[in-house]
Amino acid sequence: MHLYDFVSYCGMLTDKARLDAYTGSLRDSVGPDTIVLDLGAGTGVFSVIACLLGARKVYAVEVNPLIRLVEETAKEKGFADRLVVIQKHSSEIELSEKANLLVSDIHGGLPLHESGLESIIDARNRLLTRDAVMLPEAETVFFALSEAEEIYEKHVSVFLREYEGFSLPAADRLVKNRWFSARSDKERLLTGTAIFAEIDHRVNSDTSFASDLRWEVEKSGTAHGFRAWFESRLPGGHSVSNGISANTSTYASPFFPLSFPVAVKEGDVVNARINAVYEDGGYLWSWQTKIEDPAGLVKAETAQSVIASMIPDSKSALRRSEFFAPALGRQGEIDAFVLSRMDGENLSGDIADEILERFPGEFPTAEKAAERVYALVERYCRG
Ligand SMILES: C[S@@+](CC[C@H](N)C(=O)[O-])C[C@H]1O[C@@H](n2cnc3c(N)ncnc32)[C@H](O)[C@@H]1O
Repeated sequence: MHLYDFVSYCGMLTDKARLDAYTGSLRDSVGPDTIVLDLGAGTGVFSVIACLLGARKVYAVEVNPLIRLVEETAKEKGFADRLVVIQKHSSEIELSEKANLLVSDIHGGLPLHESGLESIIDARNRLLTRDAVMLPEAETVFFALSEAEEIYEKHVSVFLREYEGFSLPAADRLVKNRWFSARSDKERLLTGTAIFAEIDHRVNSDTSFASDLRWEVEKSGTAHGFRAWFESRLPGGHSVSNGISANTSTYASPFFPLSFPVAVKEGDVVNARINAVYEDGGYLWSWQTKIEDPAGLVKAETAQSVIASMIPDSKSALRRSEFFAPALGRQGEIDAFVLSRMDGENLSGDIADEILERFPGEFPTAEKAAERVYALVERYCRG
């Protein structure tokens, strides 16, 4: 898990819109009987606010050792007996009493970030009372088609441009198959917004999401990709969003590029199948896009995936993807040959002799070749 340095926390602590929303919601939710679990406490800012608001107990859970600094604040302000710092990943902790309020802001540009959702689900199931208040209680992830020439030039088409004879077309595949955080004042949305995921933390148990989205182009222009953003809703009517007219500066919103810029006109139809598969503590995103004019003429059809942006030695990830074209290796060829000879006519002994001869050097003895055949017979033979 990525550990933030102190400078990153400075950005979070100067984001007034975010702090005001969380503080407002804590003010509406915390009372003398409140036991708070501050999941991903960071500097401990929400823990301190909850203590100052009179919470009975606050557990500040944070993997980053910087959380220890807040213990001094707790002593100085006289609530060291109510603030318990636990410097661990939340999945590794137990609480002697269940919390009735969870506060967490463990986002990246989207709530689908590292193991954030898994941690919230785990905390709800193990560490909270059934009626616990959750901050945020729900989040929505939006996508819209966007014109963003500056961003595309800077981050996507960069390797195709020549500088003094240098270009790197082999890297083109890598940059076109990843999303990134970038902003430009000149960016404009060409469609309305579509909802990719609705996550109600009070009941959600999904970590992976997939959705078929459809938009109609509302403004003619050049489509460069999709802008994605979230809105977090907190009890008491407070909210945080990193949308295009964002009220938070902490989280840049992700941009998913198209493989090539596409000229679009008002009335064109855009369909996208977007997948976010949670695996090994992170997200594998893929986005397949089709853009058609109102008569159904296809202007663009692309399939992109972060799997294809992995450097070539990320072999196992590549192999587990729909974008990989598999070919049989030597051992596969042997097994395929044996299977092709299992036709109810050939004898196992003869097949073993054949593979000995056909694949020299693969079997130290005739017995080993026979064993290979018997194992496949055992597994795949009819009846
Ligand atoms: C975006 S920061 C927010 C910090 C602080 N709550 C704030 O709002 O300023 C998220 C923090 O959560 C921590 N974190 C994320 N998941 C965690 C988990 N499951 N257990 C403990 N710490 C976690 C990260 O190390 C990081 O410090």
